[in-house]
Amino acid sequence: MSEMLTKSAARNIFYGGSAFFFAIFVGLVAHTHGYILSTSTDAKGLTDSVARGKHVWEKHACINCHTLIGEGAYYAPEVGNVMIRYGADTDPKGAAEALKAWMKAQPSGIPGRRQMPQFNLSEKELDDLAAFLEWTSRIKTNNWPPNKAG
Ligand code: HEC
Repeated sequence: MSEMLTKSAARNIFYGGSAFFFAIFVGLVAHTHGYILSTSTDAKGLTDSVARGKHVWEKHACINCHTLIGEGAYYAPEVGNVMIRYGADTDPKGAAEALKAWMKAQPSGIPGRRQMPQFNLSEKELDDLAAFLEWTSRIKTNNWPPNKAG
């Protein structure tokens, strides 16, 4: 009776398979770090204002109601692309003004509509927040969310 699979053949398949998939793993890690991470976010546009805006976002826990690129709570609209909704791709200044006007006008008090608190942010905080949300709107997300409304 001939052996179908010798011990040494089994061992070679085990070591060869391990080496092969380890090589694929290393390749994918390199691809993620060398290509995806370095091109998906706009590193040059990451200004101090954007960083401060992120702190405004975190300090006031906007994520407790909103999602930012899908992460967060589902009480209020997605805001990762809110600046696109406000027209930032053609008029970034106008979009920043729209965001600031929105922030100042809350809560709307309209019956039957979900309400957003008033955060009494300073002009500087509002400018930084606009810079941060404008920056998030430029993150390459493989076209997610699929529509402008988020
Ligand atoms: C208590 C929940 C809550 C918190 C906290 C909250 N929001 Fe909101 N937000 C809402 C709701 C509800 C709406 C939708 C209101 C409406 O449509 O009338 C909204 C709408 C918005 C919009 C408009 C979205 C659009 O599509 O036009 C922006 C921008 C926004 N919020 C930004 C923020 C920021 C920035 C913070 C943190 C400083 C924040 N929100 C914190 C509840 C919240």
